[in-house]
Amino acid sequence: MVFDIKKIRADFPILKRKVNGYNFVYLDNAATSQKPIQVIDSISDYYKNYNSNIHRGVHSVSQEATDAYEGARIKIQNHFNVKKSHEIILTSGTTHSINLVANGFLEILDEKDEIIISGLEHHSNIVPWQMMAARNGVKIKIIPIDENGDLNLNIYDSLLNSKTKLVFVNHVSNALGTVNPIKEIINKAHNVGAAVLVDGAQASAHFKPDLQELDVDFYTTSAHKLCGPTGIGMLYGKEKWLQKMPPYQGGGEMISEVTFEKTTYAELPHKFEAGTPNISGAIAFGVAIDYLNELGLENIHKYESSLLDYATEKLKSITNLKIYGESENKTSVISFNIEGIHAYDIGTLLDKFGVAVRTGQHCAQPIMDHFGISGTVRASLAFYNTKEEIDILFSSLKRAISMLS
Ligand code: ALA
Repeated sequence: MVFDIKKIRADFPILKRKVNGYNFVYLDNAATSQKPIQVIDSISDYYKNYNSNIHRGVHSVSQEATDAYEGARIKIQNHFNVKKSHEIILTSGTTHSINLVANGFLEILDEKDEIIISGLEHHSNIVPWQMMAARNGVKIKIIPIDENGDLNLNIYDSLLNSKTKLVFVNHVSNALGTVNPIKEIINKAHNVGAAVLVDGAQASAHFKPDLQELDVDFYTTSAHKLCGPTGIGMLYGKEKWLQKMPPYQGGGEMISEVTFEKTTYAELPHKFEAGTPNISGAIAFGVAIDYLNELGLENIHKYESSLLDYATEKLKSITNLKIYGESENKTSVISFNIEGIHAYDIGTLLDKFGVAVRTGQHCAQPIMDHFGISGTVRASLAFYNTKEEIDILFSSLKRAISMLS
């Protein structure tokens, strides 16, 4: 398939706007993706035409809403090649999913156990485990990273032992774009009997992982990273783990029977979905998945890789520009600094020229500490970006540097 970039861009209303008098060049896709009109329309369609609570009403419109919500779960199940639909829990996003699992393992693990966290993690895959460890005494070990931003798998091998119960790794680093060898990490963990949680938030806009083939224990993502709305995401968990873990929140719809003496919990997935969920968000998540599948994740990845190569070469021609994270295997993320200039100043001036990038630690302070820096400028590219936009980034960057030097 040839990427019809003009047609694709026409689906994204926000890309037509101006910022500070310039055409808007959105290069902050790792923070959140933009939304196609199909996703936006699905939200207003729900509220205009079939807004009702789900799983509760006998009336027709409630049934329509329930069917659409459960239909979204099936779309997610099929997209990630999950065996059973009840292994997909709809959450508010990756952070919620990880906290749900951390809560689930609070009482399963104790001070004799060890867990391993990769050195490339976002704070959301560090802090919940530290909070858990503070309560159950589990020992946390870290897989370090090298100069290219790759995980050191030799050290990972040496950290694994019969006490290791869980391993946490992101599929793709949000700060550097490194794609981690998750299949190898999972196999090695399984060899010592440990379960693995993969944070797929930064991967699922670029890849279509086959979760059965990976044999991963938990996988999570947020819809807003893949053209869906904020406030909705998914947690995949193997049935055996989801059965074993206690509910994360108590409330309506997650119960089987309630008396003042005792409550029994609902079957999966409802046990983990207390309260009225983000119904329109889940439906729109399904629409976003349809949208990406229509374009084809492989086509998206190929197009983004060519953008990444083009951008990397251009940026490297700028004197004193250093790129952080040069893994052989990375997504379309370029994290960089200009010697002697603060990342924040670059980001602020780029914005004056209509170019949106993220600056700072990217919620990944340990990575910044590893490189001995306070932060970077991060340009993260999506399939609706163009080479012309990279040219604008390049010329705006040169303009910013000459103003700040
Ligand atoms: N985790 C998001 C990012 O990397 C917010 O920007």
